[in-house]
Amino acid sequence: MDISAIAKKGSPKSEMIYHEDPLALHIGTLPDHAYFIPFAKGQDAFAERRCSQRFELLNGEWYFAYYDSIIDMPDDLTDMRDSESIFVPSNLQLCGYDKPQYTNLNYPIPYDPPFVPDDIPVGVYGRDYDYTPDGLRRILCFEGVDSCLYLYVNGVFAGYSQVSHHTSEFDITELLHEGQNRLTVAVLKWCDGTYLEDQDKFRLSGIFRDVYVLSRPEKSLRDFRITAVPDSTFTKGELRVSVEGTSAILRLYDGEKLICRGDASEDKPFECEVEDVRLWSAESPYLYRLEIETDSELIGEKVGFRKVEIVDGVFKLNGKHIKLFGVNRHDSYPDTGYYADREKMLHDLTLMKRSNINAVRTSHYPNAPEFYAMCDELGLYVIDEADLETHGCVCVYNDLKWSAENAYNGIALIAKDPLFREAILDRERLLVSRDVNRPSVVIWSFGNESGYGENLREAAKLIKSLDSSRPVHYESTYKLDETPDDVLDMVSEMYTSPEDIQKFLEREDEKRPFILCEYSHAMGNGPGDLEEYHELFMKSDRLMGGLVWEWADHGVILGYTADGKPKYGYGGDSGEKHDDGNFCMDALCYPDRTPHTGLAEVKQVYRPVRVTRISADRFAVNNLLRFIDAGEYLTCNWEITYDGGKAAAGSFDFSAEPMGSAEVTIPEAARNFERDAYIRFIFTAKNGYSVFADGDEVGFDQIKVFTAERKAVINEGKAPDITETPLKFEITAGDIRYVFNRRTAQFDGIFKGGKNLLAKPMEYNFFRAPIDNDTMKNDWYAAHLNDYKLKVYETSISAENSCAIIRVKQSFGWSIHQPFAKMTAEYRIGNHGELDIGCDAEFSNKVTFLPRFGLRLFVDKDFDSVEYYGYGEYESYADKHQASYVGNFSAKIADMHEDYIRPQENGSHWGCTRMSVTNGSDTLVFSNPDGFSFSASEYTQEELAEKRHNFELVKCEHNVICADFDMAGVGSAACGPQLAEKYRLSLPKISGSIKIVPN
Ligand code: GAL
Ligand code: MG
Repeated sequence: MDISAIAKKGSPKSEMIYHEDPLALHIGTLPDHAYFIPFAKGQDAFAERRCSQRFELLNGEWYFAYYDSIIDMPDDLTDMRDSESIFVPSNLQLCGYDKPQYTNLNYPIPYDPPFVPDDIPVGVYGRDYDYTPDGLRRILCFEGVDSCLYLYVNGVFAGYSQVSHHTSEFDITELLHEGQNRLTVAVLKWCDGTYLEDQDKFRLSGIFRDVYVLSRPEKSLRDFRITAVPDSTFTKGELRVSVEGTSAILRLYDGEKLICRGDASEDKPFECEVEDVRLWSAESPYLYRLEIETDSELIGEKVGFRKVEIVDGVFKLNGKHIKLFGVNRHDSYPDTGYYADREKMLHDLTLMKRSNINAVRTSHYPNAPEFYAMCDELGLYVIDEADLETHGCVCVYNDLKWSAENAYNGIALIAKDPLFREAILDRERLLVSRDVNRPSVVIWSFGNESGYGENLREAAKLIKSLDSSRPVHYESTYKLDETPDDVLDMVSEMYTSPEDIQKFLEREDEKRPFILCEYSHAMGNGPGDLEEYHELFMKSDRLMGGLVWEWADHGVILGYTADGKPKYGYGGDSGEKHDDGNFCMDALCYPDRTPHTGLAEVKQVYRPVRVTRISADRFAVNNLLRFIDAGEYLTCNWEITYDGGKAAAGSFDFSAEPMGSAEVTIPEAARNFERDAYIRFIFTAKNGYSVFADGDEVGFDQIKVFTAERKAVINEGKAPDITETPLKFEITAGDIRYVFNRRTAQFDGIFKGGKNLLAKPMEYNFFRAPIDNDTMKNDWYAAHLNDYKLKVYETSISAENSCAIIRVKQSFGWSIHQPFAKMTAEYRIGNHGELDIGCDAEFSNKVTFLPRFGLRLFVDKDFDSVEYYGYGEYESYADKHQASYVGNFSAKIADMHEDYIRPQENGSHWGCTRMSVTNGSDTLVFSNPDGFSFSASEYTQEELAEKRHNFELVKCEHNVICADFDMAGVGSAACGPQLAEKYRLSLPKISGSIKIVPN
């Protein structure tokens, strides 16, 4: 609907004519430029911006009126006498208006570009602004408004702007009068830009970033461009600063020391050379200070000297090949939505650095400007991405033959549409012009999942024309037409399997480097493939590395639990018309940034040093850093341990130049330990390494140094007593008595001194509460792995070799089909009361993937503690145990639950040879020298499988012990490749064994 036509002529509302016009992007705004905040002379221009006398932050309570539909908004929207109030910045959907909607690629509106629904939700914001004329102009800046804004000053239309994640600046001086003035901002939830902002996120709107006024002189610095690069020998720095708007005096400082001074005018840039320059890199983020002084302003800028280039298919920084060990980050917070204040940004970035992450992609839009300055300081390589995604085009029925196979054929509709050309280019221009001076930005990315077509080709060309010093990135897997992509400097893909990356390396026709802009989809319990990818990345310099998807779960707070914890919700919890469920819970951190176990995996896989064994007592410490001697910042403590103790320990310092290694001799490692023994090298920070405090652990390596010979156990003496009845076998050895139910082929009881240690019969277990990566879970339910019926064909018992041996033939199944598994099992009870279980199963062809194969036991609640020797103390799986190591661990069962927001299998421990669960006086000990997995939980797998949210979980009346002969890996198949064959259980035939000793 044409809003201007239904509004009173000349009214503020009648000015709303731009939001369905993709050629009218910014009305009344100032031209874009590099981000900077001017200070008054005499001030410290390097202080936080809020300290500038020229900076007035307008965050705080604003008047607010919300309308479900723009049609219902009054003609004079600037009259806010009866309005409510809202805190700015915020997303109005988190403040009680409208509601959040989580949708991934599906557009939240009908696909009808450039039109949007008539009933656009609108938030009208109002605020008083005091003005005393002082000769300075007033520039009103919005750093982020979703999706577009109409600005009025004292009721007069001042301008319009869109592109949610970008700064819009208005010179409002002429509309101000002395004293109190009224600013009014109408923020529309949808505009034609909505088609270009279809990122996978909660769809929220409002003024969501800082709003401020800059006071600036008539003739002022409009823009400046810094070029700071090393010379060809990487010893000298070359600085060049060009200015626009006015001339300036520039001073470059190294710390407090002035190292050069000069001036720049519009026709003559400032140039200087820095001898013995200290270069910037993520490992050593050295920054110089540049002061720019004009007639009445002072601007402080940090400068990093570095050079980014691609040479012969290799991505280089300062002449050296670097790899990106990165993560994708959204601005998403359960309390503040799209708003990240300084503290929040700093917290995220520091946690990244603490996790050995060296790169971040601002998926999928530019972050607040201060974010990049923090990346400069902390040392993170940034892939800066434009605010562009048109993913929803794939759901458009643009082809009559639309089918699942050609579902992507619509992807480039907007990428090719001339109507959107300018709007797309605008987003690229805004990206580059704002962040061009940031040394941390090493790659421009011109958007995400928008198909590929002429508009995007032009986007790449435009970026290159604006800045030739950085390569451009775009993931164009769904390149469905012949538009050449030679303007892309690298080949970028997401979620490609290691095998397919290997194939890429073998291609003759492709010489560009390869980047995985998204990989190891970290949804729920996972990812399990980080180490595999890492090993591959290290194999070829053509591989630039990758960025894990994604940093933090997106959640909304639905309420609080009785003990005050937030109840996080995801898609579908806010009554959305359509949603994508928990696909937004796919990250390394929970919404509040508590790390998932996946982040611990990342930290360990990305560790800066790795140890390899050269000979029995010699080890190499390999430095994976490119610019610094790891030994300058890390010290190593080592220990040799076995089940039950420590054999030796020590420490050493070392020196290993970038990409080099140091050798150390540890004579103790060559000893005969007579049992399995491991050495663990633990690297801790010293000399202020990165953001670590001295002494903090940075990473470790564990290597097995001794494998003991297996000794066969020989049973001697009298076999246990056997009592046989038609329905039961009872076996007694000392004060231990087993009761075997012949009808169910299960142990109903393991009695010690007359007390049954089992709260329920012990059962076989083939099911796990599906993790998000278990994309085949429906097959499990179809086969009824979770609620099988038993069939017992045969049970027998005999006394042999000092043991009582029960033999069973049985099957597991349900209605309709043949049993899904047939099994023969043998239970051997020795005269000390120990039970050896061995079984062989054969699965029907209906079961193509088995999540687990093992036993489930229920024990009384007072059995609340476990001890184990295996991979701890993080939860560990066949493919997810990098952060864990083999050791002796003890834990309370109540603490072993990993609280995924959508409950799922968790808390398992892989590679264990021994585990015991106890109530203090009675204990059940499980063991297998070949290793097994176990979990001990207060929740049943049925409960975990059934509930949508962690806060709905109800504890079981018993504790649940799963002793798994084998447990499938976790992978990252929620979006990535299927779980690698080697982490699956063997099928159709599989055997299992374990020993249980009650005592
Ligand atoms: C990618 C996309 C991301 C996210 C992810 C799945 O295709 O670029 O934005 O949607 O998949 O979580
Ligand atoms: Mg997408």
